[in-house]
Amino acid sequence: MGFKSLLASLLLVSATFAQLSGRVGPTSSLSSKQSTICNVLDYGGSIGSADIGPPISSAFTNCVLKHSGSTLYVPAGNYNMQTWVTLNGGTKWAFRLDGLITRTSTTGGNMIAIENANDFEFYSANSAGGIQGYGYQCRNAGPRLIRMVTSTNWSLHDLILVDCMFTPRYPRAARGAFTPETSDEHCTAPEFHLVIQQGSNGEVYNLAIRGANLGGSDGVDVWGSNYWIHDVEVTNRDECVTVKSPSNNILVERIWCNQSGGSAIGSLSDGTAIQDVVYRDIYTNGGNQAFMIKSNMGSGYVRNVLFQNFIARGTAYGLNVNQYWSSQSPGSGAGVQLSNITFQNWDGNVANGVQRPPIQFICADGAPCFDMTLSNVNMWSQTNEAVVKCESAYGTGLSCLRSGSSHTSYAVVTQSATRPAGYTTPTTMPGDLTDGFATNAPIPTPTIPTSFFPGLPQISPLAKNL
Ligand SMILES: *[C@@H]1O[C@H](CO)[C@@H](O)[C@H](O)[C@H]1NC(C)=O
Ligand SMILES: *[C@@H]1O[C@H](CO)[C@@H](O)[C@H](O)[C@H]1NC(C)=O
Ligand SMILES: *[C@@H]1O[C@H](CO)[C@@H](O)[C@H](O)[C@H]1NC(C)=O
Repeated sequence: MGFKSLLASLLLVSATFAQLSGRVGPTSSLSSKQSTICNVLDYGGSIGSADIGPPISSAFTNCVLKHSGSTLYVPAGNYNMQTWVTLNGGTKWAFRLDGLITRTSTTGGNMIAIENANDFEFYSANSAGGIQGYGYQCRNAGPRLIRMVTSTNWSLHDLILVDCMFTPRYPRAARGAFTPETSDEHCTAPEFHLVIQQGSNGEVYNLAIRGANLGGSDGVDVWGSNYWIHDVEVTNRDECVTVKSPSNNILVERIWCNQSGGSAIGSLSDGTAIQDVVYRDIYTNGGNQAFMIKSNMGSGYVRNVLFQNFIARGTAYGLNVNQYWSSQSPGSGAGVQLSNITFQNWDGNVANGVQRPPIQFICADGAPCFDMTLSNVNMWSQTNEAVVKCESAYGTGLSCLRSGSSHTSYAVVTQSATRPAGYTTPTTMPGDLTDGFATNAPIPTPTIPTSFFPGLPQISPLAKNL
């Protein structure tokens, strides 16, 4: 490595670590986890297995847990799975999933749950392994695809996750709500692609996630401490990469929401505790929002957050803060306190800026938001007409935000907006979707892209190219 690129990578590392609270990923190398290979084909599995679940469990219990420094290996090929697995308590191990697993049961829960792992790497060496959920076969029941629970010092990368299921619950209502274009239902217990529940020091990257054009098909939902999520492509009609509470020190970057619902922080309710979050280099094509912070009443806080370098095209909403989000049952507190949130370098347009504002800050009357800072935010409308809305919101960089240090509530203000001087028609990614995937037919298994934001390469090469 030349001096310049060494310097550049040191700068990259320090910039990354300024946001994170320390190192992320497994503590030992992948090669140190290859002293024992626990191949599912030696534990009752075969290529084409009707149920690869029991061989995975057996390889874990009888091999991984008995040999520190081991790899659970699912070789390339197709497998069906009808028994879900919970792999609990492994230390210094890897799960190498080169095969493609197809869901064949509608049992709820999680197809693959990894719990309390430490020094762990979940990956596909050929960048072609993953899970095909065929959610179209059973829209109203089924599992989440992968769930990482209370694990530490781990990574998950180079996996393909396709078409989880979805559970309709209650109709969406009006009041400035996040309204999907194609469905009037939403989920309280949806069936997601990847859920990261608590834990710490994780790195998630190089993923392709494809869901149907329906709510409840979240791409990545994360809550916990010290997570770096980068280079992820999501196609669906719900969350792209979303941070939930409680969370701190989360860095999300180079995300391609290709006809997805868009990314968010939320839904937030009572006892919210989120701080030190950065989203940067986020590209969103179509779907519901460029970014949303969503809650309905509740308590706690979201603070010290930076949203930098966003490009969005043809989303329904743009920059959308809505603390009266009516698709969520109200919390008991007077509102989640939002403060010190900066939006920098945004370029985007919404489909119809009068119907749904390219920018709105609907903050809680019981906890007006403050220190909302917009700098070089150029959001506009494909119809060439737009409004912006504010309620109980304080800050700078948008005409309807109020200034001053006394933060009292005020009723919603709607102002007509003019086209921002810095607005340009947003750049596109080659390979953008123009429509979401049908809900009643199989979704093709994609390949993992090598770029996730216009003009930027992926941060780590695909495993197959190493
Ligand atoms: C995770 O790694 C850090 C070093 O980066 C170490 O201090 C910590 O003890 C590890 N966690 C566990 C549970 O071993
Ligand atoms: C505001 O948030 C930024 C991160 O976006 C942080 O660097 C800064 O220290 C915070 N300011 C205060 C006053 O906490
Ligand atoms: C976006 O969707 C289109 C249409 O299916 C697809 O061709 C393209 O590969 C997708 N982009 C990514 C990064 O997967």
